[in-house]
Amino acid sequence: MQTEVFSAAAPYIIQQDYAAYTSEQHSVWSELVRRVLPALEQHAAAEYLDGLQIIGLEENRLPDLEAISSRLRPRTGWSSTPVSGFLPAPAFFEMLAMRCFPTTTWLRSRQSLEYTPEPDIFHDVFGHVPLHAHRVFADFLEHYGRVCAATSDAGVLEKLGRLFWYTVEFGVMRQGQEIKVYGSGLISSHRECSNVISGGCAIRDFSLDEVLNTPVKVDELHHLLFAVSSFDQVFEAMHQAERRAREGRL
Ligand SMILES: [Fe+2]
Repeated sequence: MQTEVFSAAAPYIIQQDYAAYTSEQHSVWSELVRRVLPALEQHAAAEYLDGLQIIGLEENRLPDLEAISSRLRPRTGWSSTPVSGFLPAPAFFEMLAMRCFPTTTWLRSRQSLEYTPEPDIFHDVFGHVPLHAHRVFADFLEHYGRVCAATSDAGVLEKLGRLFWYTVEFGVMRQGQEIKVYGSGLISSHRECSNVISGGCAIRDFSLDEVLNTPVKVDELHHLLFAVSSFDQVFEAMHQAERRAREGRL
């Protein structure tokens, strides 16, 4: 990816220095994957598990972002683009609109397996990137980026941020009689995922109104999440939110 195609995001684009990862870091990656994978094989949405295979993540070593992007691009046009850290909103939206997922390259230490204040490569790649292989989700995420990049209305962005939070980050899906997880914050957090699986969190059917009116809480386990029936429902909710924003009634 050439940095000059970006404007707001250009200062944040970096190269992944794959050779610089230590054997300790590969081992931490492996431990992170091994502690969540058995539960995910049972409780993650089929779309996520399919994506995991498609992007070719390996359990024993950190992902090479260029290798992942070369598997994704022919399918959905997405890439996993290395960035230096947390991005300001305009840079983040600009990248989504170009189907480039801003991906951090650092990895948490063994002392903080459960929690990092900012996203790392485990959250970004293991948590987010598998769904970018799904055509509807891939289209939705690009569209989300386009709509957000085109507005500077803080109220609209806050509401759309809630839609992102309760789908992309903490989304669950009803598949048959079961609740399956697909949001990256559930996939990449042993605690959050166990909380949902063990019934510690109420699950209601997804309603755009309710999602838009439920503030995001970042400092406690979730007590309420919203189940969609498919990613088509997420995309449709985004279109509806976009229409409302255009008409000034979001
Ligand atoms: Fe995330």
